Amino acid sequence: MVTEKGVNLLHKNENDRKCLINSKDYWSFRSKYYDKTNWVRDLSFLNSLLSLLPHNSYKSVLDVGVGTGVVAEALISKSRRIFGIDISEEMMKNLDKRISKIVADAHFLPFKENIFDLIVMRNVLHYLNDPKAVFAEIKRCLFRGGGFLFAMVIPFEDEISEEYDWLIGRDIHYPTKSEILLLFKSFKILRVKEFILKSQSIMNWLNNTVNNEDKKKEIFQRHLNASDLYKRLVSFVTKDGDIFVDIKHLMIFAQNEV
Ligand SMILES: C[S@@+](CC[C@H](N)C(=O)[O-])C[C@H]1O[C@@H](n2cnc3c(N)ncnc32)[C@H](O)[C@@H]1O
Repeated sequence: MVTEKGVNLLHKNENDRKCLINSKDYWSFRSKYYDKTNWVRDLSFLNSLLSLLPHNSYKSVLDVGVGTGVVAEALISKSRRIFGIDISEEMMKNLDKRISKIVADAHFLPFKENIFDLIVMRNVLHYLNDPKAVFAEIKRCLFRGGGFLFAMVIPFEDEISEEYDWLIGRDIHYPTKSEILLLFKSFKILRVKEFILKSQSIMNWLNNTVNNEDKKKEIFQRHLNASDLYKRLVSFVTKDGDIFVDIKHLMIFAQNEV
């Protein structure tokens, strides 16, 4: 059972997580290859996410953990004003000029109360020290009735959560669907969707996210040794020296209280 405490303890080993994910070198390396990871610019993913939006135009939009700006760019035609914040200046280096970029931590959004009618956050949750604090910040900056569009990769089933974290090998926890839904307690969830990216290459993902050959080999081998349950859930296939798996995302459109 997932408890409130469980949500607070999203990261198993805080010291390891800080070393890896908060290091400047980590995001500096990732920024060079980020857009080459297949899922990042996948149009079916983007279209599926944007289809959750109830309106076609927004006054003021914020992308939290904007990265290279893929989601924010897709919103340019829908809003007069788009902001992107990220802790990594390098990730935002080539951000579209129409997006106002600010180097900031999601735990301390550098904005006043009630100023956005839409806030988006895709695949950032697993990097946050205190997800509850970030959700509170998002709520604070949203208009009453404003929308929060959220997407996050999740394990196929909650029961393989521990194995999933081990397979990815980053010493961070990938929140489960139950843990994520708890974080939305103070929002009104209007739409929930599970989106599956079919047959994603593990080599493509490793080559663009890991800069150590031994680590790549280790994580690849972990996938080969994964449980039958994991392999069945993700439609695991090996082909031409690569592994292909389905990746599940949870997408949520929620509203701040009116
Ligand atoms: C996996 S990338 C996602 C980028 C973008 N949202 C996308 O969907 O393509 C995660 C991003 O979150 C940023 N990030 C991690 N921790 C953060 C924090 N505490 N505050 C702001 N940004 C953060 C990273 O720098 C990185 O750009």
